[in-house]
Amino acid sequence: MSTVLEFFLGGEPQRVEGVEPTTTLLDYLRDDRALTGTKEGCNEGDCGACTVLLGQYDPLGEAVTYRAVNACITLLPAVHRFWVVTVEDLSNGLDSLHPVQEAMVRRHGSQCGFCTPGFVMSLAAMHLDNAPADQAESYIAGNLCRCTGYGPILEAAKDSVAAPKDPAFAAKEHQAVAWFRSLSIDTGLFYDVAQATYDAPVGLKALLQARKDNPEAVLVAGTTELGLWLNKDLQDFPKLISTTRVPEMTAVAFQPDGTLVIGGGATYEQAWPLLRQVIPEGQDWFERFASKQIRQQATIGGNIVNASPIGDGPPVFLALNASVELASVSGTRVLPLSEFFVGYKTTALAADEILTAIHVPPRENDQLFAALKVSKRKDQDISAVMAVFSWRLSEGCFRDVRIAFGGMSATPMLAAFTNAVLEGAPVTEETAQQALASLDDDFSPIDDLRATAWYRMTVSQNLLQQALAEAVETAAEAAA
Ligand SMILES: Cc1cc2nc3c(=O)[nH]c(=O)nc-3n(C[C@H](O)[C@H](O)[C@H](O)COP(=O)(O)OP(=O)(O)OC[C@H]3O[C@@H](n4cnc5c(N)ncnc54)[C@H](O)[C@@H]3O)c2cc1C
Ligand code: FES
Ligand code: FES
Repeated sequence: MSTVLEFFLGGEPQRVEGVEPTTTLLDYLRDDRALTGTKEGCNEGDCGACTVLLGQYDPLGEAVTYRAVNACITLLPAVHRFWVVTVEDLSNGLDSLHPVQEAMVRRHGSQCGFCTPGFVMSLAAMHLDNAPADQAESYIAGNLCRCTGYGPILEAAKDSVAAPKDPAFAAKEHQAVAWFRSLSIDTGLFYDVAQATYDAPVGLKALLQARKDNPEAVLVAGTTELGLWLNKDLQDFPKLISTTRVPEMTAVAFQPDGTLVIGGGATYEQAWPLLRQVIPEGQDWFERFASKQIRQQATIGGNIVNASPIGDGPPVFLALNASVELASVSGTRVLPLSEFFVGYKTTALAADEILTAIHVPPRENDQLFAALKVSKRKDQDISAVMAVFSWRLSEGCFRDVRIAFGGMSATPMLAAFTNAVLEGAPVTEETAQQALASLDDDFSPIDDLRATAWYRMTVSQNLLQQALAEAVETAAEAAA
C-alpha cells in the first residue's frame, strides 16, 4: 500500500508527501506548483475555469483515456496514479499551439481570457475523445463565459475536432505512457499527513473493513458534494475513506434476468451507456444532470446516499422500481429504494454500511417512461422540480404506475396517492382529473430560492396533466 501520492504532471513523475489530504487539486496546482493557467472562478464546480484532464492508462487497449474534471472540487489524493493534464501541457509556446488553441484564436473565442483555459481543456477533451462536432454543446455545458458569447467557442470546437492529434501532445502522452507502465500493481493508498488521513483501499473487502474500523471517517466518492462542504461550508474532514479504487463498485452490467446492476461507485458517465438501454427516453435528463466534468466524477451511489430532495437521480430510480444493495463486513442486504429515504437528507444506511450497487429491474416493453426536469437554466442547474412518470396502458387501464417527484417534499418520493388513484383505473379524462387533484394529498412543497411552493405544485400538475392527456389520447386511438 502506497503512503505517498504518485502522479504524472508537467512531463514528470511526481511523488508528494506532506500536503494535507483535503488540499484540492486546484490549490495544489496554483499555490504549490505555480501552474496558474488553471483558474479559480466559483470554487464549487459550476464555472469550469479550473478544468483539467485526468489521463488513465488502459493496459488492454494500450491507450490513455481522458476525462475533464473540475480541479476545485477534486482532492489531491484522488489523482494518485493519474496523469494530470493542465493547460500548460497543451502548447509549447505561442509558435506551437494545440489545434484547439489555434481554433480559439482563429474564431475569436476569447476576450478577457479568464474562462479560456477551462474552455480549451474541455475542447481538448472533446478532441482527444474524437467526439462528433454535434456534441460540442455537451462538452462545454460546464464552462461559463461572461464576455465572448458561446458562438465563436462552438465554432472553434467544430473546427478543432477534425484536426489530427497534435504531435507535441502525442510526445507528452508517450512520456506519460512510459510512466504508467513503470507503476507496480495498485495495492491501495493510505495517505497520512498531520493526523489527517485519506484511505483508498483496493477491493470491496478492504473497503468494508476500513468502514467498520473507522466509524468516524467520512466516505468519499466523486467529491462533487463533499468538495462544496469543504470549500463553501469550510468543514473539516480529518479522516476520509475513498471508494474510488474498488473495481467491484464501478462495474455496470446486465444480469441474466435483465436486471441492470450499477456499482455504487460508478459515475453517471460510466453508467449511462447501459442505463440508456433501459431508458433511452432519459437522454435529456442525463445531459441536464450538471455538466460533463461533474458527471465524470459524480457517482450514482453518492447522489442517492446524499438523499437531497432536489437530486435528479433518486426520482428516476424510484420510478424504475430500483433497489439499493447495502453491504458491511457482516453481510449484504437489498432494500427497495422507496424504503431508503427516511427523512430530510437521512437514509436507512447503517453506520458501517456502504451502498455497493443499485439494481434496476428489467423494463416492460410497453412501459411509458418520461423524466422531466424543471430548472431556471437549461444546463448545469439544480432542479426546482423533477417529475418522473412510469406506467403501462393495458386493456384501457393504467397498470404498474410509478410516478415520482423531486423538489416536492423533504425526500425524493413516489406520489403514493396519485399512483393509487391511477393503478387499474380506466384511461379517461375523468381519471386524469382525479389524479391531478390527488397530487395535493401527496405533496406540500416548500418555498425556497429555487421556486415557490405554488410554482412547484402548479408545474408538477401541468407536467402530469400533459402526460395523462397523452395517455388518454393513446388509449382512445388504440380503442378506435
Ligand atoms: C456544479 C454541480 C452541479 C451539480 N448538478 C447536479 C444535478 O444537476 N443533479 C443532481 O442530482 N446533483 C447535482 N450535483 C450534486 C452531485 O454531483 C451529486 O449528488 C453526485 O452524484 C454526488 O456523488 P459523489 O460521488 O460526488 O459524492 P461525494 O461528494 O463523494 O459524497 C456525497 C455523500 O455520499 C456519501 N457516499 C458516496 N458514495 C457512497 C457509497 N457508495 N455508500 C455510502 N455513502 C456514500 C458520502 O459519504 C457523502 O456523504 C451537482 C454538484 C455540483 C458541484
Ligand atoms: S472554479 Fe469554477 S468550476 Fe472550479
Ligand atoms: S472571455 Fe471573458 S469570461 Fe470568457
